[in-house]
Amino acid sequence: MSMRIIGTGSALPEKYVTNNDLAELVDTSDEWIRERTGIAGRHVSTGETVAELAALACGRALADAGRRAEQVELLIVATCSPETGIPSVACQVQSSLGAVNAVAFDLNAACAGFLFALHTAWAYVQSGICRNALIVGAEVLSKLVDWTDRGTCILFGDGAGAVFAEQCDRGGILSFVQHSDGRKGEVLRCDSRALTNPYVRGVMQSPWVKMDGREVFSFAVRQVPTGITEALRQAHLKAEEVEMFVLHQANFRIIEGIARRLGLDADRFPMNLDRVGNMSSASIPVLLDELNRAGRLKEGMKMVLSGFGAGLTWGACVLNWQREC
Ligand code: UT7
Repeated sequence: MSMRIIGTGSALPEKYVTNNDLAELVDTSDEWIRERTGIAGRHVSTGETVAELAALACGRALADAGRRAEQVELLIVATCSPETGIPSVACQVQSSLGAVNAVAFDLNAACAGFLFALHTAWAYVQSGICRNALIVGAEVLSKLVDWTDRGTCILFGDGAGAVFAEQCDRGGILSFVQHSDGRKGEVLRCDSRALTNPYVRGVMQSPWVKMDGREVFSFAVRQVPTGITEALRQAHLKAEEVEMFVLHQANFRIIEGIARRLGLDADRFPMNLDRVGNMSSASIPVLLDELNRAGRLKEGMKMVLSGFGAGLTWGACVLNWQREC
């Protein structure tokens, strides 16, 4: 028993912010951002919430899969930027979709969130707890970013991507690996709220994202190829047999570095970060949806999905793209 993705969807906020727009806010330039990251622009929420973007992406994934909301049995939203602590974003999405039969919950593994959610859904489906799942990565990082910090505000974008997946007898997901290293948590953190209970004299450090970019960069280039190799070994495949590697869209230099370490040409690593920036947990499902809608995902092709980010967290999944059973 395994699980295959049979529908994808995505949603991006309307407002588009170019590098030149950012150069009016902080001491940066279009040239620097393009050369160091590959990013040219990103969508930024002017009011769209994580739950709204996630619900739109889910509706599109269900339509693409030809399924109705009432058929959904599990709904997991990966996010590190929810507007509400409670209720979960997933429960809000469940309500707006009318996915009345779903079990819904959120999961936070930062930029690896979508991969961790997909792995969780796979485990549920494989063990027979449910037969299908809607898996979403959704972020409005623009509200966590310090818009005076040129080291971070140029990187991130807002958006949501979703996949609908269901059980299958063969193909689909072939292997999965997941890793976390909390000892390195300081290199990318965001303290979300002050401690204000009467027993604590809380001092909020900073509610904004703080990042040691170089540390994150070298972690990604070092660990991600190891994770991908581990997942490939489990699937009894060689890297050369994989047609497409859909990676978290953090920085084109990171992706090229990973390709080099795997001994592969970067043209097997599709990218959209030039247009949408780093959308954390939404990066992989949004790119997957673009590739699906562009007809670039061929029946039976071998793919690797890999996410990495704060925590630290990282994971990789090998799958056989198979919409037909
Ligand atoms: O999803 C996971 C989340 N995070 C990441 O993936 C981030 C991974 N890291 C990176 O992508 C890169 O480290 C960055 C793009 C964030 C930074 O690129 P870098 O090549 O590592 O630059 P750097 O931090 O080493 O800084 C080089 C110089 C510094 O100036 P000095 O000290 O050499 O004078 C920075 O102050 O570039 C300066 N700098 C900028 N200059 C213009 C940093 N940010 C900017 C900027 N515009 N936006």
